[in-house]
Amino acid sequence: MKIPVDPLFDLSGRRVLITGSTRGLGRAMAAAMIARGAHVIIHGRELATAQKVSTELGAAGACGFDLGRAEDIAPALADVLAAGPIDVLVNNAGLHRRGPLLELSLDDWRAVIDTNLTGAFAVARAVVPGMIERRQGKVINICSLMSELGRPTTGNYMAAKGGLKMLTRAMTVEWARHNIQANAIGPGYFATDLNAPLIADAKFDAWIKARTPAGRWGDPSELVGAVIFLASPASNYINGQLLFVDGGITAAI
Ligand code: GCO
Repeated sequence: MKIPVDPLFDLSGRRVLITGSTRGLGRAMAAAMIARGAHVIIHGRELATAQKVSTELGAAGACGFDLGRAEDIAPALADVLAAGPIDVLVNNAGLHRRGPLLELSLDDWRAVIDTNLTGAFAVARAVVPGMIERRQGKVINICSLMSELGRPTTGNYMAAKGGLKMLTRAMTVEWARHNIQANAIGPGYFATDLNAPLIADAKFDAWIKARTPAGRWGDPSELVGAVIFLASPASNYINGQLLFVDGGITAAI
């Protein structure tokens, strides 16, 4: 269903790459942008899964690569870039490997940093030169409430998402002059696959509902407004900002 939109929020014809868009928040963002006329490229670790979701959503294409293998990313994106420029990059893919810092293996640490932070850098490094050539582009990094706050057993994820906040500012100070707006979104606790074990834990579920001023988990559909805003002309003079979509959790002690 195509939704008529205000020119300020018009995404029609914009070519959008969303990493990690076969499920969860990435899939919800892809569906919402497609409904508003964007030509979205679905990404997943496995090409076959990305192609299946692309067909299901009526997307413009699919690509498959492991964000944890930065050296593979540019070659894996060659076909996508050859098919057309990317106007909007959403660095969404992320993974968790929860555990106390002193019990994390180096592989647990590296996997989370490599996927959630280095992967975002590597995809941007492949995509942004085309944006610079065309003197326009949007980069939206999906950070987290954990770019600012943390809890035990999430140290690798906190470090990655904190780094992604500062990478967003690094992108801003170097690329804003080329009319590229780099910003970030910080989801709070959303009901996604990533958090399924937490939701299933009655104690944790109760703690989140008490700790979040809105008193509930977010629904993935509630994140898409922020990404549409940051992907659209309405945000053309917004740079280097981190917009929390978190039910108020980062506003409360
Ligand atoms: C956890 C959660 C959090 C958030 C995620 C979304 O383990 O406490 O997965 O990390 O849900 O950061 O922003």
